[in-house]
Amino acid sequence: RTARFTLDPAFTVGTVDPRLFGSFVEHLGRCVYTGIFEPDHPAADEAGIRRDVLELVRELGVTAVRYPGGNFVSGYRWEDSVGPVEDRPRRLDLAWHSTETNRFGLSEYIAFLRKIGPQAEPMLAVNLGTRGVAEALELQEYANHPAGTALSDLRVSHGDKDPFGIRLWCLGNEMDGPWQTGHKTAEEYGRIAAETARAMRQADPSVELVACGSSGQSMPTFAAWEATVLQETYDLVDYISLHAYYEPLDGDVDSFLASAVDMESFIENVIATCDHVGARLKSEKKINLSFDEWNVWYLSRWQEQAPTFAQDDWPEAPRLLEDSYSVTDAVVFGSLLIALLRHADRVTVACLAQLVNVIAPIMTEPGGPAWRQTTFFPFAQASRYGRGEVLDVRVDSPTYRTDKYGEADLLHATAVRAEDGTVTVFAVNRSRTEPLPLDVALHGLDLTSVVEHSALADADPDARNTLDDPERVTPHTVEGTALDGGRLTAVLEPLSWNVIRLA
Ligand code: AHR
Repeated sequence: RTARFTLDPAFTVGTVDPRLFGSFVEHLGRCVYTGIFEPDHPAADEAGIRRDVLELVRELGVTAVRYPGGNFVSGYRWEDSVGPVEDRPRRLDLAWHSTETNRFGLSEYIAFLRKIGPQAEPMLAVNLGTRGVAEALELQEYANHPAGTALSDLRVSHGDKDPFGIRLWCLGNEMDGPWQTGHKTAEEYGRIAAETARAMRQADPSVELVACGSSGQSMPTFAAWEATVLQETYDLVDYISLHAYYEPLDGDVDSFLASAVDMESFIENVIATCDHVGARLKSEKKINLSFDEWNVWYLSRWQEQAPTFAQDDWPEAPRLLEDSYSVTDAVVFGSLLIALLRHADRVTVACLAQLVNVIAPIMTEPGGPAWRQTTFFPFAQASRYGRGEVLDVRVDSPTYRTDKYGEADLLHATAVRAEDGTVTVFAVNRSRTEPLPLDVALHGLDLTSVVEHSALADADPDARNTLDDPERVTPHTVEGTALDGGRLTAVLEPLSWNVIRLA
């Protein structure tokens, strides 16, 4: 059976905020050290940034880059990470049972973003696990105040004359999670988040603040947490965060392929909760969603491994969470991107967790090459072609049976209309065995040709890019896709991510 939908510019979801294509750099494993920063590497620049990685980061098209954690931020002492490198202390990182050398810190992070280019924007998390209002204010003054105060002058004395201009701030990380250093109840967190937000706004009313939502929809406190936190912070914050990671559990690939069903329900449930609190408070204001950690993550492997770490061993930049992604993973990943785009009216920040080596689209070998994982391609294509107005896509699709989500559509799709009127369709075929014919009716769109139909699919769904074979999987062009008389017709290969560009 054919999957169908209609595109009509009269029916839209909303405009894509460039911040939807954000990413995340945490001091975790080799994301920073031997990931983006490796002074001894032949490709390193004068600041120790790997030029080969920088090139890939640019090609990936990331915008907001969240930093420095993640769980790491709940033990973060920002002042350890600034000033002369030789004076910076080595610290225990409790979150990842590692030693943090602080060779890379706040100034290096800002310099890295500036090298990526103007599209890259800082998104800094403050520590609300082991610290509080005072330290957040000190960090804000150090980072953003031009000069003439103790902490802004300290920054200048460290060689950063220009303020960092950080607009977007996260008020802690995953404070609902018992694994978080300084974990809090919703009431405790709501209070400290509100007071930190109030103080940061006193210093600078233009900051944009993200309150911690739940670490996942399956958390026992989900929704009650958001309601309690927002009751305290509604007028003081701009965003509530969402985090979600997906993996095939017990070999159930069919449910894994429908992971976006969960992601979309998570988004819709958080919107409902935000709007419920807004209604109770009789507020005109809408809280937007910052989906600031999302990805495919083989988390259960990590959960089995973590308890075996030797307690007296605190390695520097160990290999942690270095998941290798298959074609199947990339198709699910593409579907998660589609879920974000389909909610672009309210999800206005999103961060792919993470950027390099740690559950990442870019991998590196210390002293060796950098390469693109399979997940690199859907992200780069969505960031490049997914800018503009999201059209409201309602699919009529054949379905398949999943254990976790019941009947799920085989087709998952969205479409984005760029300023110049061109349209890009992003579509996933979840069938592992069957091609899916697609028929799209175009109304009110001045489109006459298919510029390109690119697909990521492979006869071997487990194919992946590795150090030894870094270009095993790349997108290919699909022939036969046609646009005729206001009808787009295509065939989506089994288990495929598709980008169909129309002009
Ligand atoms: O991205 C890896 C970890 O996942 C982050 O540190 C944490 O916030 C989440 O649990």
